[in-house]
Amino acid sequence: GNKEWTQLWLGYKNVSNDNKTVSCEVVGFNKDSQVIKSALCELKSGLKGILSDEVVDNAGSYDIALTIKKVDAIAKEGFKLESDTSSVSILASDDNGALYGAFELLRQLSCGKKLSEVNVEKTPSNPLRMMNHWDNMDGSIERGYSGQSFFFENKEIVVDERTRDYARFMASVGINGVVINNVNVKDAATYLITDRYFDKVKELSEVFADYGIKTYLSLNFAAPIELGGLEVCDPLDEKVIGWWKEKAKEVFGKLPHLGGFLVKADSEGRPGPFTYGRTQADGANMLGDVVAPYGGIIIWRCFVYNCTQDWRDYKTDRARAGYDYFKDFDGAYHDNVILQIKNGPMDFQIREPISPLIGGLTKTNQMLEVQIAQEYTGHQIDLCYLMPMFKEVLGFKTYCQKENDTVADVVSGRAFGNKLAGMAAVINTGNDKNWTGNYLAAANLYGFGRLSFDTELSSEEIAREWIRLTFALEKVDEDKLTDMLLRSREIYEKYTSPLGIGWMVTPHDHYGPSVDGYEYSRWGTYHRADHLGIGVDRSDKGTGYAQQYYKENAEKYNDPEKCPEELLLFFHHIPYTWKLKTGKTLIQHIYDSHFEGEAEAEQLFETWKSLEGKVPSEVFENVSHRFELQIYNAKEWRDQVNSYFYRKSGISDQKGRKIY
Ligand code: GCU
Repeated sequence: GNKEWTQLWLGYKNVSNDNKTVSCEVVGFNKDSQVIKSALCELKSGLKGILSDEVVDNAGSYDIALTIKKVDAIAKEGFKLESDTSSVSILASDDNGALYGAFELLRQLSCGKKLSEVNVEKTPSNPLRMMNHWDNMDGSIERGYSGQSFFFENKEIVVDERTRDYARFMASVGINGVVINNVNVKDAATYLITDRYFDKVKELSEVFADYGIKTYLSLNFAAPIELGGLEVCDPLDEKVIGWWKEKAKEVFGKLPHLGGFLVKADSEGRPGPFTYGRTQADGANMLGDVVAPYGGIIIWRCFVYNCTQDWRDYKTDRARAGYDYFKDFDGAYHDNVILQIKNGPMDFQIREPISPLIGGLTKTNQMLEVQIAQEYTGHQIDLCYLMPMFKEVLGFKTYCQKENDTVADVVSGRAFGNKLAGMAAVINTGNDKNWTGNYLAAANLYGFGRLSFDTELSSEEIAREWIRLTFALEKVDEDKLTDMLLRSREIYEKYTSPLGIGWMVTPHDHYGPSVDGYEYSRWGTYHRADHLGIGVDRSDKGTGYAQQYYKENAEKYNDPEKCPEELLLFFHHIPYTWKLKTGKTLIQHIYDSHFEGEAEAEQLFETWKSLEGKVPSEVFENVSHRFELQIYNAKEWRDQVNSYFYRKSGISDQKGRKIY
């Protein structure tokens, strides 16, 4: 493994010249708790960095008195910070709350607040705030763009100082659950629930537990066959149930910090209940029941669709699949089962509507899945700060009830009173020195954690915090970098696929353009362009997908005149001559946005160049190199997409620019 790594946003730059001595005291909490010890340890090293002097344990003379105090009235995992010029108290009712309060104090001071200004009370928006690693046990990472796994190497589990730093980073932004292995569970990973790996998983889970993080494993639904030698993995078969019962007892006995399992079943070739004519609910509930005695939970993914579709088939619509497979069993899923739903109905495209399953389900625990690994959004080469997208997702009104009906309301559990609810991100880390390949991609790692803890934060607030903590730039430069981050998603969208249609990417790898790359394949991801127009008719005259939404949204999406234009081609097949609200034709919009997007990518690089000498040179070089690649990519997208539609439509660019 790579033995060198950065401290990301926990670098604690000195922000005060007047050296202070701090004394720490713990009141009401168990001082032997590992999490409380971690909080103290973070405070000591952090405050030393920030205030540049000693932090002591309640002895001698000191300038600041710091107290961590247990106050039962504070909400679960929440905290309150109270301070004046010479004292500060972190109040919480549980260990995690105290730890998060400690990190909040350090964050606020690092961001330039004075001690006396640090007065805040926070309760996490979501009970579950999780990272999903798609790490394989051979060290590779599915959709990883930052090196190899730091959890696995040559089919062994690695636990070292980097693991601890990873846990610190995650806790510092409020993450409380980590799935360590890829959802596609094969080969060695199937054996993570056997004694081949128990000792090491336990060691790893203990490091996480020190920072209030529970460990989760992805499961192979066919484990009863592959490990147990049974002939089937039918979830209603008595032998299969018996096997899982024994397994759960063994696993939870060996791994006390295990939170439960994540399951990808009947999806993209993975085994599942469909093979036996059973439903997704049958599979999820069976596993839910076997882990229930140990307080475990089953997070069951809804990414179930027909991946062997015939492109000639206009009726089958991949976008419909999640809702079609899961909605009918609303209310049937057991209490310790959560359905994990991708933000969009397809697969993490730069623009998709919100999955109608979110809020479509009203009697089922549900959790939002997003992807900060930039699989379709530039592979951490292209700059694409994703908080603006996630904010749109969270703020979307589902109309599932009169009020309290946004995605944020639903996935937090507030809307329907679910205790199990939350957000998960497919993580963008690897063993690169800077963790995320592109130094600027760490804004998404930081941002997801912060947003899952507090969905009210704005994209800009998160960006500024991250910049302050990471680079501590002068205000003008901070403004520049903030602006770059905030514009980056729209820029990426402009030079890639137009108006919500998605895809058009190089098959399998998913970087760079290939307009027809998925057009005649089995994956259900078509744009249906011909010489007259482009887009998929998902209205009531087409696949009927628009009708999966509640009335208010269904009516809007169903009508091309009312459909939000950024999603127009997702919902409708539109002629190139169609007039958009700007007065432009669709084809002219395609040309213009692609020329603009590429030009704006070049502007991003120019702005970045003005930060030379302001950020460490290693950061500058790393990001500059990526901008060179991004511009190459943007040109390729611009020219391939524009040429493709010029050739299909025969309509020239009104501005007479070069199209090939
Ligand atoms: C996408 C991705 C796969 C991944 C899958 C999933 O299709 O390309 O690599 O396994 O999503 O979410 O399960």
